Amino acid sequence: MIQKQVPIVFNHHLAGATHVLGFDCAEIARAAAPGQFVMMREVQPRGYLLNRPFSIGNVDGNTIEIYYDAVGKATHAFAELDKGDELDVFGPLGRGFTLETWAKVNVLVAGGIGIAPFPFLAIELAKRRPQTHTVVLAGFRSAPLVVLADLFAEIGVGFKVATDDGSQGYNGFVTGLLEQELDAHGNNKVGVYACGPELMLKRVAEIAVGRDVFCELSLEQRMACGVGACLVCACNTRAADGAADYKMVCKDGPVFNARDVVFE
Ligand SMILES: Cc1cc2nc3c(=O)[nH]c(=O)nc-3n(C[C@H](O)[C@H](O)[C@H](O)COP(=O)(O)OP(=O)(O)OC[C@H]3O[C@@H](n4cnc5c(N)ncnc54)[C@H](O)[C@@H]3O)c2cc1C
Ligand code: FES
Repeated sequence: MIQKQVPIVFNHHLAGATHVLGFDCAEIARAAAPGQFVMMREVQPRGYLLNRPFSIGNVDGNTIEIYYDAVGKATHAFAELDKGDELDVFGPLGRGFTLETWAKVNVLVAGGIGIAPFPFLAIELAKRRPQTHTVVLAGFRSAPLVVLADLFAEIGVGFKVATDDGSQGYNGFVTGLLEQELDAHGNNKVGVYACGPELMLKRVAEIAVGRDVFCELSLEQRMACGVGACLVCACNTRAADGAADYKMVCKDGPVFNARDVVFE
């Protein structure tokens, strides 16, 4: 794990509350795997103290890309930073996605900013398993909030949009698109990876486990330390024998097998 002050190389607004920020750190770039995250804050934080967790969105040379929504104190402050400003970062942290599966079709299901880890995952799946096909199913509230369509086209993976208000793509929740996709492949040789709001993850798990499809979920919890020391990020899972088994999202996850997660 690397802790460093790193320079920002770009920080742009994309759409709605969503921004993309790149920082330079060769050591994290070398060590990172899809689904892992970094803890990040300004060098001199304004109005907040703790580092915040962000998925590693992509790695391009020595640059780590972070896709983030400006929702509160830290992320609004990040949105004001410029090229050359420094961040305090540590990572890479956590357990990422399983890349080696028997799937022939990789279905990446994103809800809103849950799309953040998927550029990196899609690129690594294309590199390591070129014989497989990847499609991103991305749910947004409305058409003006859709992001990353061009990037996924460049990477060469499928990109299908669902909007809650029907203004673009499938009219309804992204889980409806997932059911369509699984129907199209007859559940055979499909692997599902999902990241987004808890209700979406719960439904994705019901669909995938119900059809006996391999499925991993990237969970979100408030975090303080990011390394398993403060117990803030505990989540309820079940062990192989069905017994309750509390795990730390930062250390044991954030990626878990959908079969193991117990939703409230
Ligand atoms: C493993 C992990 C990876 C993440 N990756 C990303 C990412 O790539 N891009 C991104 O935009 N966000 C990501 N998040 C969420 C991000 O950490 C929070 O949005 C951020 O901490 C908010 O900080 P803030 O000070 O701006 O907001 P705060 O002032 O702390 O909170 C503002 C609002 O955001 C909500 N919020 C804060 N933290 C979380 C959280 N962890 N989960 C759900 N809601 C939260 C609060 O309840 C509140 O409504 C990730 C979280 C985890 C645990
Ligand atoms: S954030 Fe401290 S234990 Fe997970």
